[in-house]
Amino acid sequence: MFIGKFARAGIGVAAALAMSTAIARADESVEVLHWWTAGGEAKALQVLKKDLEEQGVTWNDMPVAGGGGEQAMTVLRARVTSGNAPTAVQMLGFDIKDWAKEGVLANLDDLAGKEGWDKVVPDALKEFSKYDGHWIAAPVNVHSTNWVWANKAIFDELGLKQPTSWDELIADLDKIKGAGYTAIAHGGQAWQDATMFEAVLMSTGGPEFYKKAMIDTDPDALNSDTMVKVFDRMTQLRSYVDDNFSGRDWNLATAMVINKEAGVQFMGDWAKGEFLNAGKVPDQDFMCFRFPGTQGTVTFNSDQFVMFKVGEDRRDAQNKLAAAVMSPSFQSAFNVVKGSVPARTDVSPEAFDACGQKGMKQLAEANEKGTLFGSMAHGHAVPSAVKNAMYDVITAHFNGEYDSKTAAEELVNAVESAQ
Ligand code: GAL
Repeated sequence: MFIGKFARAGIGVAAALAMSTAIARADESVEVLHWWTAGGEAKALQVLKKDLEEQGVTWNDMPVAGGGGEQAMTVLRARVTSGNAPTAVQMLGFDIKDWAKEGVLANLDDLAGKEGWDKVVPDALKEFSKYDGHWIAAPVNVHSTNWVWANKAIFDELGLKQPTSWDELIADLDKIKGAGYTAIAHGGQAWQDATMFEAVLMSTGGPEFYKKAMIDTDPDALNSDTMVKVFDRMTQLRSYVDDNFSGRDWNLATAMVINKEAGVQFMGDWAKGEFLNAGKVPDQDFMCFRFPGTQGTVTFNSDQFVMFKVGEDRRDAQNKLAAAVMSPSFQSAFNVVKGSVPARTDVSPEAFDACGQKGMKQLAEANEKGTLFGSMAHGHAVPSAVKNAMYDVITAHFNGEYDSKTAAEELVNAVESAQ
């Protein structure tokens, strides 16, 4: 009966048999490689796992710890080299382009066309979700990196108000340190140093300088008096971190703010996921505000699930994963927990808390004004090789290996040799 139907449609018996076994054996599972292993991150991912499980799709989890995803990218390379790519991989910006160039990614055009993704995903994200005009990834969120996360009890106790300029920030940090707290909770890992650095750079040089230095990698901007000042300010901030900062994971630094051991953390809004996961409430227990001097500008990154070419039997589950990620209800439920904002422009801000609503509004405003820029530290400003070259200089300087003038010079050399 089943085969007869194919025969009538002009398909040979052998082919029909092969198709029917393929249909019978359709692999309704997805394997997802990601680095969401911190408490708030894992909780957010649970939303997606549940969503798929309800559709009968089994989730095979492949977590690779390490904020920013460097370790995850190393594991991915090994998997693809051995011909065993996962269904989907969490990825950032320029890494997506690199993988697309290798011709190993799936084509999601049919699904994207049917669901009208083009109309609801902003251009800044489509720049990475599409390659050569074809959809290759489903954007999960928009994070932004120029935030400060502050312990409200410490601010209240010391009578501090939210700093809006560099000088106000330093005055607050002095008071926090003077009261015996760690002023800045920081984890000495290259990507965290770079996250702090790009906020300081934006605050010091403004949006035009950010673009010239971090996106255009203009040598005159990289080795300039402004850049020397940025490095000097990094040295200044270094004096407010505790002795054990080296190598600390970002979420442990967030925990220091949550537990009233430290005053502030400079971190992307995934930090909010940790506060929420600890039962903390914005404006009551903690505060979120833009890094002083960067108000009105937003440095962003977007986590995308990049789909790899998989066998025909796994395509259905892969499409279900992509469709689930792009559904407006998922985009709301996930991002409310994760600390990010939706990757679609048509999701209501209603379910979001005060920080989330602020984030959504500021993102839209910055986009409108032309002050929305890709985050260098999170792979949205320059290709990975250049990013890593910048990381090396920033971290070496933060750890006292270079003075500020040498660091600015080294930045030019490092970027040139990586290009
Ligand atoms: C970022 C990523 C975020 C968050 C963070 C720390 O690069 O975009 O989603 O996970 O790393 O792990």
